[in-house]
Amino acid sequence: MIFDGISIFEAIVLFAIYSFMGWIIEAVYRSISQRQFINAGFLYGPFIPIYGFGAAFIIILEFLIHHWPLPTKLIVYGIVLTLTEYFTGFIFEKVFKLNLWDYSDSRFNIHGRVSLLFSLCWTALALIFITFIHPAVLRHVQSQDGPFLHIVSIALVIYGATDFVFSIATITSFRKKIAYLYSEYFNLSDAEIENIFNSFRRLRSAYPNLRRYIDNNIDMEIKSRISTFLKSILSKIRLNMEGRKPFENEFYDMIKDIYMHDEFLKLKLHYHHNSSIYDHVMDVSYFSYRACKFLKLDSRSAARGALLHDFFLYDWRNHTVPDLPEEKNHGIEHPKIALANAKKHFILNAIEKDIIRKHMWPLTLVPPKYKESFIVSFADKYLASKEFVTKFKRNKDNHRVKKLPKAHQPRKKRRDN
Ligand SMILES: [Fe+2]
Ligand SMILES: [Fe+2]
Repeated sequence: MIFDGISIFEAIVLFAIYSFMGWIIEAVYRSISQRQFINAGFLYGPFIPIYGFGAAFIIILEFLIHHWPLPTKLIVYGIVLTLTEYFTGFIFEKVFKLNLWDYSDSRFNIHGRVSLLFSLCWTALALIFITFIHPAVLRHVQSQDGPFLHIVSIALVIYGATDFVFSIATITSFRKKIAYLYSEYFNLSDAEIENIFNSFRRLRSAYPNLRRYIDNNIDMEIKSRISTFLKSILSKIRLNMEGRKPFENEFYDMIKDIYMHDEFLKLKLHYHHNSSIYDHVMDVSYFSYRACKFLKLDSRSAARGALLHDFFLYDWRNHTVPDLPEEKNHGIEHPKIALANAKKHFILNAIEKDIIRKHMWPLTLVPPKYKESFIVSFADKYLASKEFVTKFKRNKDNHRVKKLPKAHQPRKKRRDN
């Protein structure tokens, strides 16, 4: 007996059962919120040990303080479970640099590791657990044959240890894989890149913050390399573009079939950052064309890909069916929609497809494959932010004019009839 009439073998089986129940709770919660099946937790198998530990703490507490008044007991449960959750999150962040969960968006959270709402939920769950679930499960486990329990618990320990070792190895190798992926990116084939991304598909869905982690830690290196390079050429390109536009004819020749196409002209009807999508894509296209010409890259593909990069025909601030259902994220979805539209009306080469599909990188996890795609992605962000600034200034000026006392407002031109 290790505790209150529970043998070590029974304790192992109980721990596995409660970890499994925790996995069910997490898998259901995550699968519903992400609308696809998610194998939650860091283990391969269907167990989340933090629930096993939480259950163990509640069983021990109940043994020690069962005679206390219920409200006091609930406060103690809440504090112990919150501390368990906080320190598990803390250890994972420090050791594996991974966030298993993130409550930063919930109110009253501490470092995103715990939040008031979830702590209240755990406390309520603990009460249900100790009143109804544990007594029933314990009775069932203790009614099993001794030898059967021995075999099951030994098998569980062997299985648990193996799963733990493999899962830790996966998490550790994940960082190395990402580093390798980015350092060798341009030398790898599409199939190899796809393979690497697929190898941590489960990790990606199990950890809500993996995208942010990749973005913060590893993308930084490649992003800063690219942005230093681009910034250094930006001023030269601008100088080169200012004043005369000697290449305009060549540029318009390259894109004639697109910008005069009836379907493409519909982009004029959709408002984007500060003007129509049409104006925005023409600017991004011309900028990318000049940048690629300057860098002796494929300026034709850059111009055409850039022109089609936002080829979606809906209002992204207020979208509904048919192109983009309301619940979908425009930022992530619109490159796919633009690509589908572009393919419907024009013949695209590999660079042009890559430009359209990846222009929102790093929002889309897989980085661009061609230098031209990086240029367009950069040109898009650079020009979009300029467009937002102009719009913001314009709004601010309008606002200021409205706020001025009447005597200082510019006079409206009077029509003399
Ligand atoms: Fe876009
Ligand atoms: Fe854009």
